[in-house]
Amino acid sequence: MNNVLGDEALDQLFREARTHHAWRDQPVTDDTLRRLYDVMKWGPTSANGSPARFVFLRSQEAKERLRPTLAPGNVEKTMTAPVTVIIAYDLLFYEKLPKLFPHSPAMRDLFAKNPQLIEETAKRNSSLEGAYLMIAARALGLDCGPMSGFDNARLDEEFFGAGQECQGCEQEFFPAGHVKSNFLCNLGYGDSSKLYPRAPRLEFNEACTLL
Ligand SMILES: Cc1cc2nc3c(=O)[nH]c(=O)nc-3n(C[C@H](O)[C@H](O)[C@H](O)COP(=O)(O)O)c2cc1C
Repeated sequence: MNNVLGDEALDQLFREARTHHAWRDQPVTDDTLRRLYDVMKWGPTSANGSPARFVFLRSQEAKERLRPTLAPGNVEKTMTAPVTVIIAYDLLFYEKLPKLFPHSPAMRDLFAKNPQLIEETAKRNSSLEGAYLMIAARALGLDCGPMSGFDNARLDEEFFGAGQECQGCEQEFFPAGHVKSNFLCNLGYGDSSKLYPRAPRLEFNEACTLL
């Protein structure tokens, strides 16, 4: 039987958690980013396919590569954030299904011959994984600032294009041309004094139907 989380946890994950645009001068360590991944990776995805790929931009140099792709309103908050993560998806994710979904070998081939299913599955599940990442970040005491205001094609060319093998990567990178950006998320410790008043959410009856 699972425990019901208390109010303190629910506040931290949802009710008091805000989208942050300004950051305290407190770094996010690589250990924290590894811990973040090791928590969020357990969220469910279709056929356990885990299509999301994450590029954590921590250095000034990496941020400068991102800058020209950003919508003007997203530049300042992103350049000042300790970390910006590119939440992307790998269109070759199904090649890892023999490892991730070993009890159903047919699954790899099902995807391999259906490009529309690949795209749909990769987008849906990388969005879910981005959400798991944000909730996991909040659980670890971090704040998030998600953004879709950027030029996906330009970013993909800069970070995932042919010839961009791996500038400054510490591990195996992604196959050129097969990884596409979904959205961005700034990570850090937010400056709550700079928050705008919170906007409301829909009431139960506006968003839900009980059948
Ligand atoms: C996928 C996604 C894309 C977003 N894109 C942007 C963006 O480009 N720029 C921005 O300032 N905020 C962006 N936001 C932030 C939302 O406006 C914000 O999360 C929402 O208003 C809720 O704010 P709250 O968490 O403080 O209640 C985005 C949020 C999400 C989840």
